[in-house]
Amino acid sequence: MALINLLSPKGGVGCTTLCANLGMALEHLGYQVVLVDLDPQNALRLHFQLPLNDPQGLIDRFDADVEWRQLVTRLSDGVDILPFGNASDARLSGFADMQRRPGELSHRLRTLSQTPNTLVVVDANVFPLCEVSPLIDDADLNLLVLMADAGSVALMPRLESQPGSLRQASEQGRLGYLINQIDTRSRLKREIVELMLKRLAPLVVGAVHRDESLAEALAEQRSLFEQAPFSAAARDIEKAARTLAQQFPLRFAGIDTTARPAAGLTPGGVASTHAKWP
Ligand SMILES: Nc1ncnc2c1ncn2[C@@H]1O[C@H](COP(=O)(O)OP(=O)(O)O)[C@@H](O)[C@H]1O
Ligand SMILES: [Mg+2]
Repeated sequence: MALINLLSPKGGVGCTTLCANLGMALEHLGYQVVLVDLDPQNALRLHFQLPLNDPQGLIDRFDADVEWRQLVTRLSDGVDILPFGNASDARLSGFADMQRRPGELSHRLRTLSQTPNTLVVVDANVFPLCEVSPLIDDADLNLLVLMADAGSVALMPRLESQPGSLRQASEQGRLGYLINQIDTRSRLKREIVELMLKRLAPLVVGAVHRDESLAEALAEQRSLFEQAPFSAAARDIEKAARTLAQQFPLRFAGIDTTARPAAGLTPGGVASTHAKWP
């Protein structure tokens, strides 16, 4: 199993959207996927047709004497979800305390896995770059979602120089980037993407075009692969899922089925999509 943690330095960049759809793409490759929402906005569930009036979630029961496995909702044969739920201030503060205690949250998250081919994919959302986070410290891979805009370019020197958990994850080959909302229609925006890819390669796991199909899929509460399977974003997200599959190969009876020759892989790190751009 592997614990993959999606996070972003600011809101609105597409962290939740990519978490939901990457999960579906990984299921299509053959993984068991458990999607977990750690964001009080409780928005991950909106991507799936869960009853809107169902308040159930992690926040109600995270400290109860119950296995977290019992809190998940099955979405399909290969995908389960653990929504965040609706929280009171007191519950939120208790959950924040738990997140600060080393090893505790990641241990619980790992119990959600029932097979060697399970990927627990967490929507952790906004994270202050310089902070220490036990979840980042423990995740097998942290995926930092950046929007392909000038604001993210301005953040890059901070990303590269800040101390804290992300820096350590980077040094240990546990950091990757997802660049989202790429728009190649203007020269400036193309230059921004090229700069980001050049600077962040070889840690770029995926680059996803700006594509209205993603917003339409959310409005319909279904995955992009049902809404617009041949869209640019669907192709990009599938490609990112295949890159992840190279790092966490499917195993059946001890045989790696997704392992490929090492071309494009960095030692101990994620595959670069840079060379294949655009
Ligand atoms: N690649 C994309 N193309 C077009 N719209 C996108 C894309 N990614 C995300 N969005 C839209 O951006 C908005 C914010 O996305 P969301 O995933 O909620 O961001 P976050 O979790 O980072 O706050 C949503 O309306 C979503 O549909
Ligand atoms: Mg979000």
